[in-house]
Amino acid sequence: MEERRPPLALVPTAVMVMLSLSSCCVSAARPAAGGAEQQLHPVILIPGTGGNQLEARLTEDYRPSSLVCRVWPPVRGRGGWFRLWFDPSVLIAPLTRCFAERMKLYYDPAADDYRNAPGVETRVSDFGSTSTLRYLDPNLKLLTGYMNTLASTLEKAGYEEGRDLFGAPYDFRYGLAGPGHPSQVGSAYLQRLKLLVETACVANGGRPAILVAHSLGGLFALQLLARNPLPWRTAHVKRLLTLSTPWGGSVQEMLTFASGNTLGVPFVDASIIRDEQRTSESNLWLLPTPKVFGNTTLVVSRYHNRSYSAKNMTQFLRDIGFEEGVESYRVRIRPLVEALPEPGVPVTCLVGTGVDTVESLVFGDGGYDEGPEKVVYGDGDGTVNLASLVGPIKAWSDSPAQVIEVVELPKVSHLGILNDKNALEQIIRIVDSINLNATSTSYHPS
Ligand SMILES: *[C@@H]1O[C@H](CO)[C@@H](O)[C@H](O)[C@H]1NC(C)=O
Ligand SMILES: *[C@@H]1O[C@H](CO)[C@@H](O)[C@H](O)[C@H]1NC(C)=O
Ligand SMILES: *[C@@H]1O[C@H](CO)[C@@H](O)[C@H](O)[C@H]1NC(C)=O
Ligand SMILES: *[C@@H]1O[C@H](CO)[C@@H](O)[C@H](O)[C@H]1NC(C)=O
Repeated sequence: MEERRPPLALVPTAVMVMLSLSSCCVSAARPAAGGAEQQLHPVILIPGTGGNQLEARLTEDYRPSSLVCRVWPPVRGRGGWFRLWFDPSVLIAPLTRCFAERMKLYYDPAADDYRNAPGVETRVSDFGSTSTLRYLDPNLKLLTGYMNTLASTLEKAGYEEGRDLFGAPYDFRYGLAGPGHPSQVGSAYLQRLKLLVETACVANGGRPAILVAHSLGGLFALQLLARNPLPWRTAHVKRLLTLSTPWGGSVQEMLTFASGNTLGVPFVDASIIRDEQRTSESNLWLLPTPKVFGNTTLVVSRYHNRSYSAKNMTQFLRDIGFEEGVESYRVRIRPLVEALPEPGVPVTCLVGTGVDTVESLVFGDGGYDEGPEKVVYGDGDGTVNLASLVGPIKAWSDSPAQVIEVVELPKVSHLGILNDKNALEQIIRIVDSINLNATSTSYHPS
């Protein structure tokens, strides 16, 4: 076995003994069915925002804003649970409002944490399984089979759901916060994810896991690593493989905050969606960070006679009329994004490039509600700017202990990376080479 061992000085004696037995995480060697030992490193898929399915249940504290929201949806059985995200009913105008009021989060300054709307319980079902990541919407070809192609490609390569292939969905509205600030929901997710990684490892002959994370999922994965000691990381995580992760946020997120982003879903009132999207903590997390964007002017508002860089985010939030977000951004999010800790395990970043991506925005005399008057595009994956996709990688690669690879995928978009043929081939090639114990080299496909 070629497992990279943690520096021995950092490893407690008991763990050292077990390392010498299995060379990674604690495990009972498991002969696989049929006699031959399974040789794959378990893969854990961590989706980005839109790829998580959320269920909701309304309690008697729920205060519907309209009669429609009182009666919709007519839930029978299932303990009152119904699908909140993604459900095509969001497209029907009066129901968009019901959807938005149930999705909204509230920041409670006294608790210094986020919570759901009163009377709305939410849950992520099937944690551990990839089924909700493969969600196929029968009515609509939107978000269809979010990670389905990737999961089935891994299955063709020998992986099996529940054996060495797992999914780690989460409530994508919640995020994490900098040191000293509670994040009940986000921290509970990291705890669950940690257990899943350990379980997967033990169930697979002690082989450490490969985390395959799309978009925001990469930021959660990095926090999982950063919040656990180095010996834990090296023993349980073989590689972090990120797909389109916005290490430093994206300029498009400022457009989401200013004017709403319907994610290409037609007929939806952007302003209703905007008010809901603004309340999502993870959206604050995805705003462009000073570390990556520096002093560059990202937004100009003629109405306010002001321009904003990533350093002016609190002023920007104030000027778009989202005062509620200012304090949370300042005390919780800014410290989180300022520190972009080293993963401490080998990382491969797959990034799409050459797709027009919002680089700066000019809002006219009508202010933010009217939408941008001018949009300037630059390089990126159509959602995340190139600077954010690769920025921190440069800093990490200065550290001799940090193994890091970047694989560039020309003309592959932010979501396209999950089903583009070339992207999938690269992912499988990387997973295969890890499983085949091949030497790690840097490569750039032409
Ligand atoms: C592959 O595994 C063998 C032991 O099976 C080990 O000696 C070798 O160093 C490993 N190669 C790499 C590149 O890690
Ligand atoms: C950014 O602005 C600050 C002050 O506003 C200045 O001190 C710093 O040198 C600027 N950095 C760059 C890279 O221009
Ligand atoms: C806009 O701001 C600049 C300085 O930033 C100032 O010189 C100018 O007078 C302002 N224009 C208006 C119309 O307020
Ligand atoms: C943006 O930040 C820079 C540097 O910190 C500062 O000089 C400038 O006044 C700020 N602009 C706004 C609109 O707040």
